[in-house]
Amino acid sequence: MNRKLPIGVLLSGGGTNLQAIIDAIEQGRLDAEIRTVVSNRENAYGLTRARNHDIPATVIDHRGHPSREAYDRVVVEHLKGQGVELVVLAGFMRLLSPFFIRSFPDRIMNIHPALSPSFAGLHGQKQAFEYGVRFSGCTVHFVTEGLDEGPIIIQAVVPVLPEDTEETLAQRILVQEHRIYPRAIQLYSEGRLVIEGRKVRVTGEESDASAGSALVNPHIP
Ligand code: GAR
Repeated sequence: MNRKLPIGVLLSGGGTNLQAIIDAIEQGRLDAEIRTVVSNRENAYGLTRARNHDIPATVIDHRGHPSREAYDRVVVEHLKGQGVELVVLAGFMRLLSPFFIRSFPDRIMNIHPALSPSFAGLHGQKQAFEYGVRFSGCTVHFVTEGLDEGPIIIQAVVPVLPEDTEETLAQRILVQEHRIYPRAIQLYSEGRLVIEGRKVRVTGEESDASAGSALVNPHIP
């Protein structure tokens, strides 16, 4: 059996991306072991998802710490104590301090619900919807000190349809988030992600024969 990559998942909310990662592990598509799930909010449903699968889940409340770094030091110590090698941000609604990022250099991933570098920050789906783009999607990237701007690992594109609302677009994007996040972690686990400046090279990547046909929306009849 392949070695299992020890990961720690940080979240603040519902945890559907955590669930997708759990499912991928249980189905044998992801050679990883979730050593810990950490939430900064005690009512995050993601904690329940973890416990339903006997995964240790911990609340580390951000309130009551004198600074962002003071909080991050507690989280980093916890993650290191669990032997975490890769930190997976899955809807963790807090900025990480430089201290945190330097504690896990090139070993933190995030998922953003837009096609980076567009629509960074909060509510990427809403920003894209209001802007009127014809395509949006989601991005898994390594975390650097800039907001949502680290080297891109994998992206999925979805169309924006005429009948869409913010919610239906967000749902379409979320379905793709659940596909690409476990895949990004698996590529990392296989040692196939090589960061070269701004870019990530995926070793052994095959070129896609369909790449010559562009996506157009609205479609050309
Ligand atoms: C996801 O849509 C994720 O892309 C987003 O939060 C949601 C968490 O959902 N993350 C960000 O916006 C980070 N900037 P989940 O708790 O169901 O996985």
